[in-house]
Amino acid sequence: MTKKRVGVLISGSGSNLQALIDACAQPNFPAEIVLVISNNADAYGLTRAKDAGIPAHILNHKDYASRDAFDQAMHQLLELHLADIVCLAGFMRLLSDGFVKNWHNKLINIHPSLLPSFKGAHAIRDALAAGVKITGCTVHFVRAEMDSGPIIIQAAVPVMQDDTQDSLAVRVLEQEHVCYAKALRWLAEDKLTIVGEKVGVSN
Ligand code: GRF
Repeated sequence: MTKKRVGVLISGSGSNLQALIDACAQPNFPAEIVLVISNNADAYGLTRAKDAGIPAHILNHKDYASRDAFDQAMHQLLELHLADIVCLAGFMRLLSDGFVKNWHNKLINIHPSLLPSFKGAHAIRDALAAGVKITGCTVHFVRAEMDSGPIIIQAAVPVMQDDTQDSLAVRVLEQEHVCYAKALRWLAEDKLTIVGEKVGVSN
């Protein structure tokens, strides 16, 4: 089996990166992580990458004149490592249209809500504020508009009456880790079809 080569982009803790590292360590998993890029030198995810023996690169967006220049540098690194798939895992930068087009249907993201509800950087806070009784997580293909694109998998998480942002985030994250590994497996096995921006999973 030829494994698909995956680049993971992070900005922070990297618990989703860890879930993907653990999934890729399973025998017969169809993908391997060949590169991690962080725009934040202090991201704990960089330690997770190093512990797993994965090349980790820090690209500080502030060192680049424009978003396009930063995204081009990431693109070149991904190409250098012959990445087939790119996973966003808590990557807190908007991507340029050019980058999104370059990785069309090969670029996936994890978001802590049931999209299309609660897009943006405060999905857990916004779900609590709205008083929804069920929230969850979504893995989706990335399109130009933030937190949009064909949905691959979702999991529901009940909101408890006494939930805080932290307590709810912990339960959503548990589901994120399960969903992200499943989505990457399907994508790497070429099991996903996109028709009319809706995703099908073949057996
Ligand atoms: C996750 O909640 C993810 O859905 C969101 O950012 C958070 C990243 O967490 N995009 P981690 O860095 O993977 O722990």
